[in-house]
Amino acid sequence: MAQKLLILRSSARAFGVTSARSFGTSTQLKQKSGLVLGLYAEDESGQSILTPAGKRFDQSVDGQLSKLIQSSGPVLKKGKTRVFFGLPGYSAVAVAGLGKKGLGYNDQENINEGLEAAAEGANLGVWKYQGPKSKKAKPLPVIEPFEKSGTNWSNGVAKADAQNFARRLMDTPANLMTPTIFAQEAASVLSKVNVEVEIHDQKWAEEKKMGSFLSVTRGSDEPPRFLEMSYFGASNSLSKPVVLVGKGVTFDTGGISLKPPGKMDEMRADMGGAACVVATLKAAATLKIPINIKGLVPLCENMPSGRATKPGDVVTAMNGKTIQIDNTDAEGRLILADALWYAAQSPNRVIVDMATLTGAMTVCLGQAAAGVFSNSNEMWEELQKASCQTGDRVWRFPLWNFYTKQISEIPGADLNNIGKGPGGGSCTAAAFLKEFVGDSVWMHLDIASVMSSSGSEVPYISKGMAGRPVRTLIQFLAQLGGSK
Ligand code: BES
Ligand code: MN
Ligand code: ZN
Repeated sequence: MAQKLLILRSSARAFGVTSARSFGTSTQLKQKSGLVLGLYAEDESGQSILTPAGKRFDQSVDGQLSKLIQSSGPVLKKGKTRVFFGLPGYSAVAVAGLGKKGLGYNDQENINEGLEAAAEGANLGVWKYQGPKSKKAKPLPVIEPFEKSGTNWSNGVAKADAQNFARRLMDTPANLMTPTIFAQEAASVLSKVNVEVEIHDQKWAEEKKMGSFLSVTRGSDEPPRFLEMSYFGASNSLSKPVVLVGKGVTFDTGGISLKPPGKMDEMRADMGGAACVVATLKAAATLKIPINIKGLVPLCENMPSGRATKPGDVVTAMNGKTIQIDNTDAEGRLILADALWYAAQSPNRVIVDMATLTGAMTVCLGQAAAGVFSNSNEMWEELQKASCQTGDRVWRFPLWNFYTKQISEIPGADLNNIGKGPGGGSCTAAAFLKEFVGDSVWMHLDIASVMSSSGSEVPYISKGMAGRPVRTLIQFLAQLGGSK
């Protein structure tokens, strides 16, 4: 039987995890039910304050819990937990420090610290990638709210589930998540929530003259795919969709510009943008966000072989622009170029692309945030607002002509796929993409920095692929659909 966790609504994502972990890993527990609840930092009299539901539990055990809390040591700090055994009804009761009551938006940290996110924190915190082992994996703890709650709880679960779905797609080894498998997986999951999925093949891409996309897939024996997904949530099925475009490189060796072997396995997650698009669509459909959304995902491997693109080769993209490929490891922008141009050919409200595009983004931001480039202040502000709510943050970078010059002032072709530098690798990559969006309102998220989690930087996401910033995207779409 799965272990069962009951959660009291508390006010921070961080706490699901630490508390949940003590249950998830405990082997001494005979009964299998635990309780997690929140504790605010002290009031003027130096007392910690249980959440309202926490107080009700405390009353039901004749105040035993509050006595234990008081006698167990110093006031619990924000994000720290303490586990108590022997209370009636549960094998263990964990108390998580929530910090001061009534926290709000912190403009230095760009985060709203006063929000309730127990469902998200708990469901993200207990999840871990379980690969194909011959021995059956231990079931993950089942989480339920302690008291009946409204849609807030189920909305939080839907968001966390979507992120966990993206994490699974990203962490799955590349031989088990080829373009073909990814496409099938997306179709099977999305068809259940009423999202239409078309799977285009190589011939389709050839007919569309997607020479830039096809130049990347040449070196691989795995056939490419191009996913086109449609969710109609608006009352008018003709209202302009938000188009989400995701980089779907199911493995990035670098191609002939081969990457060094250390940590190359991480490049199984180079389809993180694609995973975020599919997961976001799943959540949008589950939550019935009242807008139309289209998802476009070019999928391929980037491999070296006798047929692979060679440094210096020149190819022609769908929009007719010629590209000199001086580094075959800068492949993400090549597959996105055709996908963005394809997106820009149909009416749209905004095009948002997501891509694990440049290692330079991690140099800039570490794992703190994803980088954003946009030609629209309005869309940027909407996304930033969303990220303050979810805690999965974004930070804006420039799209100056300075960088466009660095990828366009070359003798042999219209564009070069790497910038002249020095430096600015994330910005030249974005400037390259800008050449393919026409007049569309557009936002590019470089999510390379948040692709994986070290297990310590973000306390509620264990080590592995992170599925970030799916919840921010969902929140952004909900805002476009009219929610605050
Ligand atoms: N997929 C990588 C970027 C990446 C690196 C994402 C590490 C996550 C972790 C991308 O295709 C790439 O190789 N980019 C190059 C660009 C360079 C050749 C201009 C990079 O970042 O080194
Ligand atoms: Mn690459
Ligand atoms: Zn890549």
